[in-house]
Amino acid sequence: MPPADAPSPGTNLGPFTLDRLLGQGGFASVWAAHRADGGTAAIKILKPRYAGDGDFELRFRQESQFAANLSHPRIIKIGDIGREGMFVYFAMELYPGSLATRLAQGRIPEPELLAITRDVAEALTFAHEQGVVHRDIKPDNILIGPDGRAVVSDFGIARAVSGYVSATGVNMTIGTPHYLSPEQAQGRPIDGRSDLYSLGITLYKAATGDLPFKSKDWYELARMHVEEPPAPPREAHPELSRKLERIILRLLAKHPDDRPATAQELLTELDAMQDPGRDTRSFKVPDEYQQSVTSTIDAVKAPAKDDKDKKWWKPW
Ligand SMILES: Nc1ncnc2c1ncn2[C@@H]1O[C@H](COP(=O)(O)OP(=O)(O)OP(=O)(O)O)[C@@H](O)[C@H]1O
Ligand SMILES: [Mg+2]
Repeated sequence: MPPADAPSPGTNLGPFTLDRLLGQGGFASVWAAHRADGGTAAIKILKPRYAGDGDFELRFRQESQFAANLSHPRIIKIGDIGREGMFVYFAMELYPGSLATRLAQGRIPEPELLAITRDVAEALTFAHEQGVVHRDIKPDNILIGPDGRAVVSDFGIARAVSGYVSATGVNMTIGTPHYLSPEQAQGRPIDGRSDLYSLGITLYKAATGDLPFKSKDWYELARMHVEEPPAPPREAHPELSRKLERIILRLLAKHPDDRPATAQELLTELDAMQDPGRDTRSFKVPDEYQQSVTSTIDAVKAPAKDDKDKKWWKPW
């Protein structure tokens, strides 16, 4: 089916045919898709409103390309971005779920949570060393593979959006303000420690099932991030370990200087807890997903010969 105004099941983009909508964020939708050779991928498609804006498209392409060059086992692999008709998009590995979908099933047991945190901290250590701050760490951007390992998605995307906003004045927020750091909420300069705060909110939510700060009002939420101390996680959940609580509260420090200085430092702290999590994960992924991810990776590693001339597609 040729591309129309809105993507729908059956729409063809490059070698991919869209199957089903996985979800929508502030400026893009993400679809599960397949290739004729049986490989699968997730396709992120800019909403038409932004695809028609040359400035945004350019920033989106530049940042996506930058993210595509971040090669690390705990960072999602993405392909070159392309345009087909109205649709500006890029392909990435398809994952069976995210920390958000996992959280929809309930709180995460501590050993599993520590293992996921470790994976995210490894991704952040690598990216921060390359000078890339994620800016939008939250459960939807932490994808979980069939083996229970986590990878971080959407590196660079938030920078495309914030650069666009400051250059054009167009009001556009990505995702939810619940995970914003105090310095982001105040529009101050940020560094990697902003991601550590957002990871702290993510861990708080995963460990307790609840967010530390809740309000429907953006400004009130921003004020809470800046001023309000979070309730210690063990207050409502005394079964959580003191060490986990200490780690979460340190990540949630209002001033970046009071957080771990780097994601590497967080890794060291996690190691000191003698991470019991790696072999005790309870997250069981259904076989169909197992298959889908495996075939994605196969498709990526061995692109079909007749795809060689499709320049937008870069095997990873
Ligand atoms: N590669 C992928 N495999 C599986 N699901 C994915 C993949 N990439 C994104 N998703 C899911 O698709 C949904 C939409 O993702 P998207 O990145 O557009 O928005 P978001 O992360 O929820 O918010 P925003 O990007 O606006 O801050 C999310 O639920 C996300 O977890
Ligand atoms: Mg996302």
